Formats: sequence, C-alpha cells, structure tokens
Amino acid sequence: MSTNNKQTSLTIGLFGFGVVGECLYQVIANTPTLNATIKKVCIKHPEKKRNAPHSLFTTDSQLLLDDEEINVIVELTNDPTDAYRIVTTAIKGNKSVVTANKKMIADNLKELIELQSKFGVPLLYEAACCASIPVIRNLEEYYDNDLLHSISGIINGSTNYILTKIAEENKSFEDALNEAQLAGFAETDPSLDVEGIDAVNKLSILLTHAYGSITLPSHILHAGITQLQLSDAAYAKEKGYVIKLLAHARKLADGSIIAFVLPRFVKADERLREVRNEYNGVEIESSLADKQFFYGKGAGGFPTASAVLSDLSALRYNYKYEYKKLNYTPPTLLSNEFYLHVSVSFNNTQIVAVQQFAQVDEWVINESGCRISGIVHASSLLQNDWWRQPGVSLVVLPQSVVEDFSSATTSGILSLIP
Ligand code: HSE
Repeated sequence: MSTNNKQTSLTIGLFGFGVVGECLYQVIANTPTLNATIKKVCIKHPEKKRNAPHSLFTTDSQLLLDDEEINVIVELTNDPTDAYRIVTTAIKGNKSVVTANKKMIADNLKELIELQSKFGVPLLYEAACCASIPVIRNLEEYYDNDLLHSISGIINGSTNYILTKIAEENKSFEDALNEAQLAGFAETDPSLDVEGIDAVNKLSILLTHAYGSITLPSHILHAGITQLQLSDAAYAKEKGYVIKLLAHARKLADGSIIAFVLPRFVKADERLREVRNEYNGVEIESSLADKQFFYGKGAGGFPTASAVLSDLSALRYNYKYEYKKLNYTPPTLLSNEFYLHVSVSFNNTQIVAVQQFAQVDEWVINESGCRISGIVHASSLLQNDWWRQPGVSLVVLPQSVVEDFSSATTSGILSLIP
C-alpha cells in the first residue's frame, strides 16, 4: 500500500475531467494543507478545451496506472466499464483509490471488497452516495454498534430537481430535465436518473454499510419518475402531499432487511418535504440515536468534489472501510417478503385488476381515470410488470411499509365519481 502514516503526501492520477474532475482540480489547487498534487489526468477526448495546462493531460491510462510515484488514483469517469478496469488495476498495483462511480461499485461490490482485502489497499467512495452528505462514513463509523431501524431518503438530486420544478414552477418534465443536465446534476445518460437506477445503485451501496447486505441493484424493487401521471399531481394536491422519489431500507421485526426505491407521496409534516431541487436528505432511525436527518447538496461539481476531497484527506491517515456490518455481524440477506401501501392510477380498467392487490382500501373512477389505493406485495411487484405499463403509475402512500399484514382481503371502498 502506498499511503501510510509516514507518507502523507498524495500524488494523484486523475481519470476524467468532467464537471466533478474539473472542480476537484480547482479544489486541490486551492487546498495546500491537503499536501496533494495531481500529477496526470487521463481523458478520452484530447480535442476538448480544458481549464488546465495542456501538459497535464494524456489519453494513455497506463501512464497513470504504471507510474510508481502516483500513489492515489481518483476515478471520476462516466463509464462504469472503464471505471471497473481502472479501479481494479489500480488496487492490484497497490495504489489507493477514490471513486465516485456508483454504478460500477454497486454492480461489483462483492469483488471490490475482496480485492481491497487481498491487496490491503483502501478504496473510498463517499462521493458515490449523496455527494456532499457524508452518509457512508457515518454508517460505517457512527452507527457501527447501534441497531439501525431504517434509512429513508432522497438520494438522487436530478429527479428531486425535476419534481421540484414541476410542482413549484409548473415546468415541463423535459425542461426541468434539460436544466438538470445543464447544471451538471444529471448522469451522462439521464435515463439512469429518471428511471431510478442511480438511486437504486446508491441504495445498494448504503445497504452494505448499514446492514452488511450485498445486493445487486437489479434485485431491489425500484422505479423512477417517468411513469408519473398528471392525475398523481392532482391527487397529491388534493391530499396536501408532494411527490418525491424515495429510497427506503428497513429492518423488520423478524430481522429481515427490506429495501426499495419508488415515488412516494410525502406529507406536509415530513422533513423530506423540505428537501428541494438538487438537495438530498437522508433520515436514519436507530435504537439509541433515534431519528437523525442529514441534508445537503446531492449533485453537482463542487458538492461531489467535496466528498472526494474528504476521502483524499482520509487517505492521509490510512483510513479504510472496515465493512463492519458485513464482517462482524451475521450475514443479512435482503427480503422481498413485505407489503406496501400504494396508490395506482391508470386510464384503462382492463390494465389494473383488483386481484393485483392484497387489500383494496379505495377505488375511484372518474372522468380523469381510475385510481386504486391499497396494499400490494413487494415480490408481486418485482415479478410482474402490470404497474410499469404505459398509462399506469404506482406511488407509495405515506404509511409505506405494512409490517403486520397477514390476511388478504379485498373489502375496500368502491367510489364511482361521475
Ligand atoms: N446524477 C446524480 C444525481 C449525480 O442527480 O443525484 C450525483 O450522484
């Protein structure tokens, strides 16, 4: 390992000079106390004009990976495949690594943990979850012995920005997304944001640090905001709710861990309601500390660079994730055996049948469409795609998880409103 207590100076090889890479370059240049230098930056498109000396750049990744003077690789590319190669090669070459690539981490976490352990090299990725909010390090360090009941939060800045602009300024989805892209909040492929994939990648990483569960994102129930309908906005207004894309993980009374990313109606008295634009908010509930709320910018160049900077600073005292929940507690597997309170709107009575529900609480048909509210089983949502069809939208109700649901009934109220 290249960084230890004696050697506190960091010689960095940086991959990627996009929004975050450029901000990090500026931050490091203005933080002399960090005792860090960027020796070389590897980029894909040398023809692009950049605000840094030309001599800093190369397109040859090996120049960084083979340079023995470089003791830290910072990976800030937008390509998970490239990121995987860079990060694994760097670890095998005994270089410390800092990355922000949540998709690459979430898809390969088991292997990355094994590699870190085999080579004794730190791999830090605070910037991968909620940008400026130090959520991973808090889960690792602060809550290492406290029993975590739940983590709930807005962990994607772009979708929160879009939903805020639609709700507060009547902007169209396209205009709001365009703004999120221009501001550098959105992923290069923004479908990762709006389809809930970025959020579920982050949730999958958080699950490892919170509960010791390594779960591929594709195994976690998730959806984004693209299927939301005007009727959902109208319903939210009528009930005094706002719609947010929420990530949720919880330990149930039987010890199992559940998790999902879905749009949810948020009530007026909930803290998450105040999380607007590109901000993120994470509420952690634990046995001893009770409820704590973390709030901060969840996307953008400088907020993300601040988390990278904090990881770099941690490398100077040889900090590594210990994966305490994974290593020191019994293995925890994710369960999809749970029920959710949801409201489903649709415009064709043939698409959504009441049989999809374990319990129907309300069924409204009027000129703007149909809505069924009730309880559904999470496995049935994972296994069936009726709720992903065009014209159908599913939004979780504020009570969200039903812990003690045992008997299936369909004795709901049917309202026919002409
Ligand atoms: N596209 C991400 C977001 C960037 O909007 O949250 C920060 O991870």
